[in-house]
Amino acid sequence: MISITQRAIGAPLDRIDGPKKVTGTATYAFEHAVDEVTYAFPVQSTIAKGRIISLDTSAAQAISGVITVLTYENAPRLEPQIRAELAVLQSNAVAYRGQFVALVVAETLEVARQAADTVVVRYEEQPHSVVLRDDRSDLYKPEKVNPAYETDTVSGDVEAALASAAVSIDHTYTTPAYHNNPLEPHATIARWSSDGVTLYDSNQGSHMIRDTVAQVFGLEPERVRVISPYVGGAFGSKGTAHPHVILTVMAAQVVGRPVKCALARQHMFAVVGYRTPTIQRLRLGSDNDGRLTAIAHDVVEQTSTLQEFAEQTAVVTRMMYAAPNRSTTHRLARLDVPTPAWMRAPGECPGMFALESAMDELAIACGLDPIELRVRNEPRVDPETGHPFSSRGLVACLREGARRFGWQSRNPQPGMHTDGRWLIGTGVAASTYPTRRRPSTAIARVDREGRYSVLIDASDIGNGAWTVLTQIAADALDVPLERVHLEIGDTRLPRGSLAGGSMGTASWGTAIVEAARKLRARLQEEHGVIPAGGLEATGEGEENPEAKRFAMHAFGAQFAEVRVHRDTGEVRVPRLLGVFAAGRIMNAKLARSQLLGGMTMGLSMALHEESVMDPRFGDYVNHDFAEYHIATNADVGTIDISWIDEDDPYVNPMGAKGIGEIGIVGTAAAIANAVYHATGIRVRDLPITLDKLLA
Ligand code: MOS
Repeated sequence: MISITQRAIGAPLDRIDGPKKVTGTATYAFEHAVDEVTYAFPVQSTIAKGRIISLDTSAAQAISGVITVLTYENAPRLEPQIRAELAVLQSNAVAYRGQFVALVVAETLEVARQAADTVVVRYEEQPHSVVLRDDRSDLYKPEKVNPAYETDTVSGDVEAALASAAVSIDHTYTTPAYHNNPLEPHATIARWSSDGVTLYDSNQGSHMIRDTVAQVFGLEPERVRVISPYVGGAFGSKGTAHPHVILTVMAAQVVGRPVKCALARQHMFAVVGYRTPTIQRLRLGSDNDGRLTAIAHDVVEQTSTLQEFAEQTAVVTRMMYAAPNRSTTHRLARLDVPTPAWMRAPGECPGMFALESAMDELAIACGLDPIELRVRNEPRVDPETGHPFSSRGLVACLREGARRFGWQSRNPQPGMHTDGRWLIGTGVAASTYPTRRRPSTAIARVDREGRYSVLIDASDIGNGAWTVLTQIAADALDVPLERVHLEIGDTRLPRGSLAGGSMGTASWGTAIVEAARKLRARLQEEHGVIPAGGLEATGEGEENPEAKRFAMHAFGAQFAEVRVHRDTGEVRVPRLLGVFAAGRIMNAKLARSQLLGGMTMGLSMALHEESVMDPRFGDYVNHDFAEYHIATNADVGTIDISWIDEDDPYVNPMGAKGIGEIGIVGTAAAIANAVYHATGIRVRDLPITLDKLLA
């Protein structure tokens, strides 16, 4: 594998797009100025299951400024072979509460919203089933879990090993539904012309949105252009096209004018995905020294009646610790709810809450320090595949974290450390996230003046792609940063993979390095003299062939200090500390921001976030920021973030492992473990609210 001299890489550069963002000149999807534009506002179903028996749009049509009201009765027919979630306004069936049943298009947003309120929809309601339980009789085994893992795995004899284990634990942990809630709500503008349709859209990968729109409308992909240079957060919810994208393109086609559609925050709790709730049974068996003899992880979670989404919650348990006997299973309930989707570290995030809580419980049962327990169960090779790890920094992270955190002085006895009425505790948990990469293409150019351009449809969702890809390009071209001009976020550029799975930098960077290598070779052929027309080269970043020989993952260790008030049960987290082994860090400042964001989201998961299902209406009731509480500044104490140097030559030419998701993995377990240490109360059901500590 080629490697590159790294000068710009690693530097703690400010965001290249920072000045544009703080001066308001970075144009987000909804802000693009489009002539003759109209505004769309959706109407949502008020039942969870049934059919529409009548629609009255006459009051809406009568409002001055309303252009049209689309319903299943008058909407154009879409291609039949599309994902059921995207078949908007194609029938009178209602599959979940909040599903779009009409769309008003008007001259202004205010008129569209007012008119949407006047649409009268009558339903024939059917009984709905919306509550996930592990004793449901209709749980089923999906073919695969996301993205293409085996649903169940087994090796050895778990039941026998558990029955004969010197020490064993058997507990059930639950996590509620969570909604992604990026700061910038989902938004799309669609404009048709004789060339096809152009979208300004907030997403994690414009080529993926293009392909979906082309498929839904039966167009050649070349007739769809998607532009998305700046995105205000996503966390997975903008990784695939959601119904509003299809509705907007449809509306623009019908009215013959451009249409803008921005979802309101409340819409986002029904139509752009969420993390499934999970019920996870964890069984661990070990000898008296804490050496695991059995690990079993059984997961129950939900999907919708429209299409399957099978979160890979137990997959992480397959590679984390050594044990001769092991099994994992996933079962789904098909409920009358919106389809779950991707949310930061899908699988690892809820799965590691259960596994790392259980490991803490086992450490206590064995009378062992929880770090020592993890060190004793460190596998020599990937327990599932038998492949060696390309690098595995878990123990180094645990040891460095213990040193930085001051773990050595900890008294393991719960409830021993107090400050007035506050009980103080500390906890630890491991973090991990797979290191992957996907095919991407980049073009590198140099003009006669020696100015370099790098073109790739990469996606900056706040991850820092504008900056980091410029750094990678500068080093790969062996020129100063200032001479590199980057273009991203447009399907006119060569195809880049999704900003998802923590693999953006690895995937796009590999293509950029290859394009730069070819361009430099061409320059050499020209003896360093750039011809009048300049030079250009295309680089392909392929799937990583080394992934067949090595298990590739990033690791980390998370430490938490909590204070629990004896009288009120209030939980505060004055201190979090994370140490990560994530390959080479491309930009120290932006990496810290990513990990800080991930850990803050983990803190939020531990203490605050919970989408509450109302079984009567069949919907999540706390659908705004007043009632869906996300950690804000006052909830967050000191967060100490560091990493250990890791030189992994196998992952990609930059040596970078992804860091977008690992920060959220393990945080909630570290906090729950610290709450146990403070109080002696084990909270196995997130979030850790005060009612659970006052019992
Ligand atoms: Mo991320 S949830 O892999 O888009």
